[in-house]
Amino acid sequence: MDTTPVFPTLRVISHPLVQHKLAILRDRETPTKIFKELVDEIAMLMAYEATSDLAVEEAVVETPLERTVGRRVSGKKLTLVPILRAGLGMVEGIYRLVPGARVGHVGLYRDHDTLEPVDYYFKVPGDASERDFFLLDPMLATGGSAAAAVASLKRAGATRIRFMCLVAAPEGIKRLAAAHPDVLVYCAALDRELNDQGYILPGLGDAGDRLFGTR
Ligand code: PRP
Ligand code: URA
Repeated sequence: MDTTPVFPTLRVISHPLVQHKLAILRDRETPTKIFKELVDEIAMLMAYEATSDLAVEEAVVETPLERTVGRRVSGKKLTLVPILRAGLGMVEGIYRLVPGARVGHVGLYRDHDTLEPVDYYFKVPGDASERDFFLLDPMLATGGSAAAAVASLKRAGATRIRFMCLVAAPEGIKRLAAAHPDVLVYCAALDRELNDQGYILPGLGDAGDRLFGTR
């Protein structure tokens, strides 16, 4: 996992398998089925790294031979919160790693003209203040959607929030860090810039459309 002094909240997951799969994901010729499988796999690999600092506690275990002390993740269940729609593609892969996780949902879409997020759904588990949240969205472009989703989670009481995406633009990282400097951002790639329509360059196109075969 790499850090950069320019973006102190950013963690780039540079694992070779993540980078290999991301290159296939970016390819315009990659069909929907493979795209979906890759988002799932990359999210799982990223989650393995992004959860490496979770708190653990000792737990007594009876092996078939004797009693020993193991360790288990402590505290309330992790909560995964995909931003609809494209974030949905990241849930299952992470859920396989953390099967006890809870899943909330934030519904947001980006207005085509203003590029600002429009809010349409919000549901997360209660006792939010006691949980670790992973907000999921493949794309961090202007950062409007991410900043709005974090604000909604905070209004619900969440205090420990991380944001996981596949591709991030510098503009989005800056906007999210300015609004929520406490939120760490994990990505597989820090891309160059946004184009005039707010798409990430080089990016991978419209993540929701490629994931669900809409256009
Ligand atoms: C995409 C993407 C993010 C958002 C990123 O979703 O999945 O949620 O845009 O852009 P931003 O950083 O500029 O806010 P979109 O609004 O296209 O909705 P969809 O997932 O339903 O297609
Ligand atoms: N949303 C996407 O799906 N892709 C981008 O490049 C930017 C926003």
